[in-house]
Amino acid sequence: MERKHSVDISIVIPTYNEAENIEELLTGIKNSLESAGIVSYEVIVVDDSSSDGTAEIARNVVERLKIPGRIIVRSGHRGLTSAIMRGFAESRGKYIVVMDADLQHPPETIPGLFEKASNEDLDVVIASRYIKGGGIEGAPIHRRFISRVAALIARILIPQARGIKDPLSGFFLIRRSVIEGVGIEAVEKHGRSFKILLEILVKGKYRRVAEHPYVFKPRKRGKSKLGVRESLEFVKQVMELSEYRLPKFMTVGLSGVVVNMSVLYILVSMLGVPVIISSPVAIELATINNFILNDRWTFKRFRLTGKWYERLLKYHAAVGLGNLVNYAVVLALHGIVGVMISNIVGIALGFVTNYLVSSEFVWEVARHKDRGY
Ligand code: GDD
Ligand code: MN
Repeated sequence: MERKHSVDISIVIPTYNEAENIEELLTGIKNSLESAGIVSYEVIVVDDSSSDGTAEIARNVVERLKIPGRIIVRSGHRGLTSAIMRGFAESRGKYIVVMDADLQHPPETIPGLFEKASNEDLDVVIASRYIKGGGIEGAPIHRRFISRVAALIARILIPQARGIKDPLSGFFLIRRSVIEGVGIEAVEKHGRSFKILLEILVKGKYRRVAEHPYVFKPRKRGKSKLGVRESLEFVKQVMELSEYRLPKFMTVGLSGVVVNMSVLYILVSMLGVPVIISSPVAIELATINNFILNDRWTFKRFRLTGKWYERLLKYHAAVGLGNLVNYAVVLALHGIVGVMISNIVGIALGFVTNYLVSSEFVWEVARHKDRGY
């Protein structure tokens, strides 16, 4: 019956072979919360049948130190995201904190997350490595680089992540209502992913998000569980959450390349029309081709801004710079490398810019994010 009572914060801690870390973590949580005057909390450890006795140690510590909390043991190694979702289901706090068990996410940061959320009436507070005051301590340069690139990819492809510096953080606080009834609890699809926050940012119900700095510590004991399988899962997850818009946009772009090249070839080589005229005609036909395909396929769900001819005009504005570059490169290079090669170089330049401008300016994907996933 006691479980019916609500607490202020539920701290969800997924563990897989963290026997060497769990005691220090639980002690650290208790100390930092209590010294910040936070007494209404619970910890929920979700362990995937660790073979090193993590769950038993956690149970002992919780009992000995009288930490309000429960240790849940699942059978088998089922993945980080799925463990966190189980923690959500078991939790009853007004706010939920998700953090790792290996002390890379310092427990001293929790009160800051909570105070920020309650003082500023925020729904999501992300512990962030990439805002002022945050950082990564002692990570090898290649891991930092991969982490940055992954964050950048997520931010380009997922509009809800765009304003956020660390959308892949594994350490964050949410108001419970953010995930209630939105189906996140039920999603086992990306169970192995390490990036549940992305899923929450896309599907959750929230208005106000902010980041709070923290320093990601080096792992002192135990091993990281982030492997190739989890990284592939991340790529899949980003693709799905962005509804494959980038690959679609690229496919359309390729069809435009075919149109552009064929028209140019026919006009220049077969009909002898001067390059100065052939190239803009080829570019324009490709632009129309791309618009139609993007409008009916890539951004189908987002055909909400104005009439189709307004979007066609906007699309011209959006790809105008890219088209100009294309034309300029053809004019400048065709005498040197030939018309066709100069056109390939021209087309290649400015591709990502076109994508971003199109998605934000023509179809306004970010503005319509509330239309749901
Ligand atoms: N229950 C359960 N099941 N727990 C798991 C599993 C699993 O399959 N896999 C990992 N864990 C637990 C680990 O025991 C640890 O407490 C936490 O999840 C993070 O695992 P690490 O292997 O230490 O991840 P990392 O340090 O490479 O990456 C973490 O930090 C990044 C920065 O915040 C993750 O939280 C990333 O998502 C995050 O981007
Ligand atoms: Mn870790």
